[in-house]
Parts: sequence; C-alpha cells; structure tokens
Amino acid sequence: MSLKLAYMGIEATDLKAWRTFASVIGFHIEEADDALLFRLDEKARRIIVRRSSEDDYAYCGWDAGSSEAYAARIDRLRAGGVEVTEGDAFGARERAVEGYATFVDPNGFRQEIAYGIQEAKTPFKSEFMKDGFSTGDGGFGHILVKVADYRASEAFALRFLDGKISDHIDLGQGAGRTEMVFIHMNERHHSVAFFEGAIPASKKIHHFMVETPTFEDVGRAYDRVNAAGIPIGVSIGQHSNDRELSFYCVTPSGFWLEVGAGGVRIDDATWSAGAYDSVSSWGHKFGGAK
Ligand SMILES: [Fe+2]
Repeated sequence: MSLKLAYMGIEATDLKAWRTFASVIGFHIEEADDALLFRLDEKARRIIVRRSSEDDYAYCGWDAGSSEAYAARIDRLRAGGVEVTEGDAFGARERAVEGYATFVDPNGFRQEIAYGIQEAKTPFKSEFMKDGFSTGDGGFGHILVKVADYRASEAFALRFLDGKISDHIDLGQGAGRTEMVFIHMNERHHSVAFFEGAIPASKKIHHFMVETPTFEDVGRAYDRVNAAGIPIGVSIGQHSNDRELSFYCVTPSGFWLEVGAGGVRIDDATWSAGAYDSVSSWGHKFGGAK
C-alpha cells in the first residue's frame, strides 16, 4: 500500500501565536496540555504543535495503511541498516494513532511510520474553511526540506518509502545553484521534496503545504494573512511543475507554510518525470508582492 503523509509535529515557543496563525489559515483548533492540535479534515489529528524552548519542525508521519504494512515497513528499514525506534503510548495518543516508529534519513530528516490513524469523533469546524482542506488519498500535504545531499534523501525515499520521482528542478550553477527533487508516494504530485543550494532555510524544513478545495480559498487566505499582518514569504503565484496556485507565509516557528490549490494529481501509468529550470510560471515573488 502506498504511503500517505498523515501528520506533522512542530516545536514552538509561542503557542498563542500559533493559535492566532491557525485560526487565520482556517485549521480546526483543539487545546491540550502544552500543545495545540490542528485538524484539516475528518482525521482526528494532522498537526501537533508542542510547547518547547525551540521553534522548529519536529517530525512527520507516514500512514502505513495497516498494522501488517507498518510491521513490514519497519522490518524493511531495519534490514537496510536503518535504526528504527518505536514510539510510546503518550506519543501515540498525541498523534491519534495506534502505533508509530521513528527514523531518520541520511540527511537527518526525521520521519515516522504509523498505523491506526484515528478518525475524529466530532465534525470538522473552521470559520473560514467550512469543508476542510484537500487531503484524502494524497495525504495532508507536502514538506520541502533543505539538505546537504539531496540525492541521498532521494535514494532513501525511493528505496524505503516507495517514493517515485515526479520531477527535478535545476536553478542553474554557480553561486545561485539550487537543485531540487520532487517525490510522490501517491496521487499528490509530491509528498516530500528535497533541495540543496542557495535558497536559504534556517529551520529543519523550508515549508509545509496544505491544499484548499478552490482557488478562491487561496485568495481569501492570502487576504486574511495580509490583514492579520502575518509576514508573506512568497507572493501569490503558480508553480511550474505541480501547477499549484499558492502563496507562502511565515509560521510562528520560522519555517513557512504554503497554502495552495489545483495541484497536479499523478497517474503512474502515464507519468514521466520532468525537468524544469524555474520553480514558478508566474508570480511567487520572494518577500511579498512587488
Ligand atoms: Fe511546496
């Protein structure tokens, strides 16, 4: 069974700022001891923001699909020499899963494999996103990670997570050199992407992405983010490879959130990996609209 991005964990110094941020974006917000728990859809949990002395990405979790597939995936990782540590009951409760296990890829990108992803017991509730975010078979979104050696993370994702290459982007050589790989595990154009090069990223991830049902949702979120004074990382625009119409804003923990709609869905029977020399076909100005 193909993997789906099920959840993501964040370390945060300022839960109040995250609460405000989440309400502007339109997440369903639940409170816990020293944590905020966000829903995007009918699943009990998608984003876990835990109080910490740090502001950073903590982990993401792949839905294995079943307890058998979970056990098989752990066996495969261990057989390949990857250290895997099973999580405890507290961690499983916080993630709203039956069980989970953590590992890192060759660049130290921390990930988890999980099973028994719980459905929520109450309806999704959000002032701005009445029908929730676009998830389903594509998982909750995607994550972009800056790494020292993107080929090592690419090889790991292909070998152990059954990832397939969606496309590569090469932004030229010299001082501005940036090379990126986009990897899919399901119909979503990419669940994870890795890059090395000139684009700055001071946190463990560059950004994570959530997808809305309509382009209008993206535009309205853009207006709300601007009205709330949340810094824009990249103005509204459209990506060259996955065709996602999106903008990026700065989360309270320093990495960015991309809010987008209209991303390509991949059918492996007909897909062939592409190569691009730009990330966007229009818009997407760094530092906001100019
Ligand atoms: Fe993205």
